[in-house]
Amino acid sequence: MSDWVSATNKTACPPGSAMELVVAERVVALFNVDGEFFALDGVCPHQGGPLGKGELSGCLVTCPWHGWQFDVRTGQSQLTASVKHPTFEVRIEGEDVMIRVPSASDEE
Ligand code: FES
Repeated sequence: MSDWVSATNKTACPPGSAMELVVAERVVALFNVDGEFFALDGVCPHQGGPLGKGELSGCLVTCPWHGWQFDVRTGQSQLTASVKHPTFEVRIEGEDVMIRVPSASDEE
């Protein structure tokens, strides 16, 4: 079971920027690519770096710790095809950025 959660106001994450949020007890990285929002699990799969504090260039985020890069639309690692980082669904309701985060039971 997953729930849509109002995570932030869309003006808090302007185009070309990233931010880190905690949604339903999960660390989430939110990105605004030219007005379209995308969300990834905010914990880098390398060593746990904060992807929401990474630099966004186009649709690629660079982890601030060691430079791994991910396509924020798909979670695909640019380093290796075998690493695809979890994404979360995002939708806009008025001014709210809604994010759907799976519950722990969804991932069992
Ligand atoms: S923790 Fe992200 S690249 Fe190392």
